[in-house]
Amino acid sequence: MRRKNRTFMDLTSTNTREILKDKQGEVYFNKSRQENFDQKKFYIESYGCQMNFSDSEIVASLLGEVGYSATQDMFGAELILINTCSIRERAEDTVRQRLRVFDQVKKQKPGTLIGVLGCMAERLKKKFLEEEKLVDIVVGPDAYRDLPNLIASAEEGERPINVLLSREETYADISPIRLNSNGVTAFISIMRGCDNMCSFCVVPFTRGRERSRNAFSILAEATDLFEQGYREVTLLGQNVDSYKWSNPENNEIVNFAQLLERVAKVAPDLRIRFSTSHPKDITDEVLYTMAAHENICKYIHLPVQSGNSRILKLMNRTYDRAWYQERVNKIYNIMPDCAISSDMIAGFCTETEEEHQDTLSMIPFANYSMSYMFFYSERPGTLAAKKLEDDIPLEIKKRRLQEIIDLQQKTSRAHNQRDIGSVFKVLIEGDSKKSDQYFKGRNSQNKMLIFPKQSNYQPGAYVQVQVTDATSATLKGHITGQ
Ligand code: SAH
Ligand code: SF4
Ligand code: F3S
Repeated sequence: MRRKNRTFMDLTSTNTREILKDKQGEVYFNKSRQENFDQKKFYIESYGCQMNFSDSEIVASLLGEVGYSATQDMFGAELILINTCSIRERAEDTVRQRLRVFDQVKKQKPGTLIGVLGCMAERLKKKFLEEEKLVDIVVGPDAYRDLPNLIASAEEGERPINVLLSREETYADISPIRLNSNGVTAFISIMRGCDNMCSFCVVPFTRGRERSRNAFSILAEATDLFEQGYREVTLLGQNVDSYKWSNPENNEIVNFAQLLERVAKVAPDLRIRFSTSHPKDITDEVLYTMAAHENICKYIHLPVQSGNSRILKLMNRTYDRAWYQERVNKIYNIMPDCAISSDMIAGFCTETEEEHQDTLSMIPFANYSMSYMFFYSERPGTLAAKKLEDDIPLEIKKRRLQEIIDLQQKTSRAHNQRDIGSVFKVLIEGDSKKSDQYFKGRNSQNKMLIFPKQSNYQPGAYVQVQVTDATSATLKGHITGQ
């Protein structure tokens, strides 16, 4: 669930503004639509997981309602926002570096407001305002509805903060404004927070308790996206398998398998993906639902974290190696064509060389198509930080990580090379990164394919592509038909 790129928002719609400022800087309220009002601009960068990128789209919508439109030019913005991640120390370092850049903008354009959103805002709270003198607004992930008020009080010269976590907030009624969109694929948040307490992880502290979004609002969003021409939605949550929504009208419970099925029935041409699955919670019902619907993609991101049972226990993952292996076997059993990917952490507290070997051996066992791989980074306040010593020296962590990366790369290459000669149904997403003579698109297994354009096909279309070549990261091929 990570993305490295920054998002630049581009809003074009005319919005109903509720808070306006006149020439003297007085804030007043206006609920009517003002077509020719000179809109204020905001600029936003997002870091971290897909949930954060999805949240930025909710923020864009909330800001749109009070008259802000987005710009890709930070110098042209009255408001600069950064949606932050705390998952590893390096993620926080990146945010601090970006704040130095925004400080420069503010020096050149006094009056520019700088707001910090997301997990780092939630983790550091008031400390952020103390440590970063030029930050004006601090807002946690459950407090975005308060942004208009916070902005108004920052405009009055205050430095407001709202980091209240909620047990209910799901932003279910907000229609996200799609940012940086290819018009073909979109994220839909189906739940927020996390009730697991993996000992290395900061997310339960930054995102609060787990809560599931109203299933009807999810279906409405998926239907709306399909009608707008989108052809793929990714259902997002830290642990989608524990999705559980109870309909207040009849107390009917909707679990994740049932939600998947309902979204799959929105339209046969709408592809469904989801992330992230937790090995302890992924049920056979989910696997059979995936197998029963062609439009639910045959791809599962199933982070193992470690291949060793003792380390998994210390990580408080609540499954062991044998349990994980059984889940992998079951997936391949029910869906032989399914691809599985993983997250792995090298050098967790007290990890021995033999235990590291157990993580390595999980790569060929599960035959991961790809993985996100990290070395352990202690996060303040987590169970591991409180109870375990971060005792693996950095060089050893890095060496173990490199061994994991090397083996995964070899495994990914072999995984991809086995696809040479096969024909896949691919959803065209747009031009390939390197050339506008080529399209890019993914198959059901989430592999990226690059193939020469044919003028009769456009992004959003499904085509059959025969694979002729493969690297560890992509497949190359050509269109063979519809
Ligand atoms: N909810 C997802 C994970 C979200 S965080 C899940 O349970 O799988 C994304 C990934 O970051 C995790 O899977 C883990 O591999 C990594 N990660 C989290 N905390 C970390 C830490 N303290 N050090 C290194 N990697 C970490
Ligand atoms: Fe973190 Fe574990 Fe929750 Fe994932 S399931 S977000 S790793 S606590
Ligand atoms: Fe996501 Fe980073 Fe927060 S991974 S939930 S943005 S700590």
